[in-house]
Amino acid sequence: MRIDILSAVPELLNSPFEHSIMKRAQERGLLNIQAHSLRKWAINKHGQIDDYQYGGGAGMVMMCEPLANAIDELQATHGKYDEIIFVTPDGKRFEQKDANTLSLKNSILIICGHYKGIDQRIRDLYVTSEISIGDYVLSGGELAAAVIIDAVGRIIPGVLNDETSALTDSFQDNLLAPPVYSRPAAFRGLEVPPVLLTGDPKKVDAWRQEQALERTKTRRPDLLK
Ligand code: ADE
Repeated sequence: MRIDILSAVPELLNSPFEHSIMKRAQERGLLNIQAHSLRKWAINKHGQIDDYQYGGGAGMVMMCEPLANAIDELQATHGKYDEIIFVTPDGKRFEQKDANTLSLKNSILIICGHYKGIDQRIRDLYVTSEISIGDYVLSGGELAAAVIIDAVGRIIPGVLNDETSALTDSFQDNLLAPPVYSRPAAFRGLEVPPVLLTGDPKKVDAWRQEQALERTKTRRPDLLK
């Protein structure tokens, strides 16, 4: 999958994909992430990409031309994107099922907003999906883009070594994940639940299912509706 990102501050996206699973996905050629500085398409030699909003009011707006020229050039070079996403607090809340759907696409462009946001006409003309990662406001879309790319990238087929491990994540079946334990079997007076030491996969599965349901009931009853 190819993921391009358009950002006023692409440096914010350097580190999140250089480690661990995202790094491996790129090394294996399963994921190609490219962050582009929107200033490359600035309207003047001062690097201008934003301007005052019509109607007045505080806060700058990211202008049409740099964004439109960037998207046109990227699509002319790499082909049409399957999805052009704008990350914004007024978008649809991102959930595991959205990550699952996006993980099946071939190419995605993510636009990161800053200041007051982007000119509405870019949303009208180009954007196919508007996504929020939660009901809070970040100072820019970059961290939201990183969250989405991580959630999508790790479930691209072939990225995780153990293919089943993504299927047992929290939310994959509308349940939170059960508790997990590793060695030692006793730690500061707390013992690993004996069923996990039985070596009986049926009993272990039944216990995990029951724990997942219990955890979901107490922490996220909304998921069970
Ligand atoms: N940009 C600023 N806040 C955001 C949020 N909560 N989700 C997505 N993009 C954002």
